Amino acid sequence: MLQRLSDFIRRKPVWGWILFLSIMVVVFLIGLLAASITERRAEIATLFNNRKVEIEAFESRSDMWGVNYPREYETWKKTTDMDFKSKHLGNTRQDVLEDRPEMVVLWAGYAFAMDYEAPRGHSHAITDVRNTLRTGSPEKPEDNMQPATCWTCKSPDVPRMMHEMGIAEFYKGKWSTLGEEIVNPIGCADCHDHNSMQLNISRPGLIEAFERQGKDIKNATAQEMRSLACAQCHVEYYFKGDGKYLTFPWDKGMTVEDIEKYYDEVQHVDWVHKLSRAPMLKAQHPDFEIFNLGPHAQRGLSCADCHMPYKVDGGIKYSDHQIMSPLKNINNTCQTCHRDSEENLRRYVEDYQDKALEIRDRIEVELAKAHVFAKYAWDNGATESQMKPALELLRQAQWRWDFVVASHGATFHAPVESQRILAHSLDRSLQAHLALQNVLFALNVNPKDLKMPDISTKDKAQEYIGLDMKTLKEKKESFKNTVIPEWIKKAEQKGRLTTQKI
Ligand code: HEC
Ligand code: HEC
Ligand code: HEC
Ligand code: HEC
Repeated sequence: MLQRLSDFIRRKPVWGWILFLSIMVVVFLIGLLAASITERRAEIATLFNNRKVEIEAFESRSDMWGVNYPREYETWKKTTDMDFKSKHLGNTRQDVLEDRPEMVVLWAGYAFAMDYEAPRGHSHAITDVRNTLRTGSPEKPEDNMQPATCWTCKSPDVPRMMHEMGIAEFYKGKWSTLGEEIVNPIGCADCHDHNSMQLNISRPGLIEAFERQGKDIKNATAQEMRSLACAQCHVEYYFKGDGKYLTFPWDKGMTVEDIEKYYDEVQHVDWVHKLSRAPMLKAQHPDFEIFNLGPHAQRGLSCADCHMPYKVDGGIKYSDHQIMSPLKNINNTCQTCHRDSEENLRRYVEDYQDKALEIRDRIEVELAKAHVFAKYAWDNGATESQMKPALELLRQAQWRWDFVVASHGATFHAPVESQRILAHSLDRSLQAHLALQNVLFALNVNPKDLKMPDISTKDKAQEYIGLDMKTLKEKKESFKNTVIPEWIKKAEQKGRLTTQKI
């Protein structure tokens, strides 16, 4: 064979040169590849050693961390984006009360009736909590309608301030008194240890809930931590007692019934309904609790598997920190596991959501009517003892509805559990109607004589429950123009922000 090749080259020397040059090119390319692989390996290995700046404990300015971890930082910054709408969710602003004005009636007497928007990206957390009418317009500490506890799930300045002030002292304060300290939106220090970059639980509420169940959160596996990092905030909680101590109500378990049992036992009431006078509960956002009952959690998936998929950049694999709807980028999320078309995968999600929302919409109409009916019964002289059974049912029905609705991903995360809870809510709403009709019959009032108010728009519903929206909005505008710029100025003077340069 070699003999024949050398004969051939002797006869046609130009082919010899071509062969020689081709081999040289191949050798050169292999060399390049080898060099780049070692370089990338070295880059990964030295990512931690090559930190450009030393991150201090409780560093709440994510821009500082970004110097060391530019890929995670650049994707994290994209949580400001407002460019995606799926069928029901997305990262844009959405006025929920405008879309579903019955909710104004469901929350009559509670701050949510004034203003409620769908969530958007993490980097808006500070702006949104400052701007919502729910935090009011406190010019002085005594004007506050909210405790400092309201900051807890908004910022990496929270663990810093808890460390400085003590946890109980932090919760005890008024919301506005920390306005010049809590200025950076959800960022690196909320989820990471500053030294090792390991996931870290920075919120005491979760650690304490584990302790009360005799568990140490430090024993959680790496995969569990990829959900527990989110469970610091995306959970049900309440402000306990006068100290407004943020507490997770998990001592009896994590289902909607377990948590209700807990609240009933400690006789917790979030507010007394303005129309029906029912002792109400407000669900927060039990994403973690409901997710755990769904098919993906039961196969061992964590939140980060869908909300923070891996990306590759120059051979380096890293987690996409643009936390948002996985439907923006099905190819990187669902399709890493499912061999199914984008179209089908999106349709599975929408089908689950649509089916649950059919029931949700029915409940909202029935519950709103029931609150109005209850007011009618009071107006016609009903007594406390006559009303008690109906009011209990209203509390239970609305708690179940809210548990699913406030957990924005629930109808996909755990479709069967969500439908189960909604079914019980609808059942109790209708039972409340029956109980109220009995009260009215006993008072010799015909339920048919009730004229339902017009609550077909947000404005009409807010007027019906007696909110003076014009004044509330004017006060808020003035607060936004005077108090907030002052907070930002003071925070800059203290070096809490990196609006200047690093
Ligand atoms: C420190 C509290 C906190 C932590 C930790 C946290 N979140 Fe959030 N999350 C929020 C808040 C607050 C919002 C709403 C922000 C707004 O609307 O201004 C939000 C919004 C979201 C949204 C809606 C985004 C959009 O584009 O509409 C998703 C999805 C989300 N979080 C998922 C997660 C996941 C997954 C984790 C864990 C990897 C996590 N969050 C950890 C507090 C937190
Ligand atoms: C199997 C994939 C998957 C996992 C795992 C997962 N989610 Fe989701 N999540 C989704 C999908 C799909 C949606 C619906 C998005 C849409 O309709 O645009 C969603 C929606 C959400 C939303 C509402 C987003 C918005 O725009 O308002 C939040 C918040 C959320 N998930 C948090 C979590 C948390 C916290 C965990 C873990 C406890 C988790 N998710 C686990 C797939 C997942
Ligand atoms: C809401 C929680 C959360 C926030 C906020 C967050 N991370 Fe992460 N980060 C995670 C999770 C979850 C992982 C995946 C960890 C794992 O799989 O063990 C991760 C992984 C990382 C890693 C390891 C490499 C990788 O990409 O998987 C680095 C480095 C990192 N994050 C940097 C940052 C920086 C810098 C910031 C701020 C700009 C930040 N993170 C903000 C939750 C968060
Ligand atoms: C990390 C892997 C992984 C990712 C990412 C993932 N899934 Fe799954 N999914 C699974 C596994 C495992 C099952 C259970 C499969 C089984 O039992 O056959 C499952 C089951 C399902 C099911 C059937 C649910 C049921 O009721 O049994 C649907 C629908 C589904 N996934 C849709 C999605 C969608 C949509 C996304 C993206 C938002 C997604 N999955 C992301 C692993 C994943």
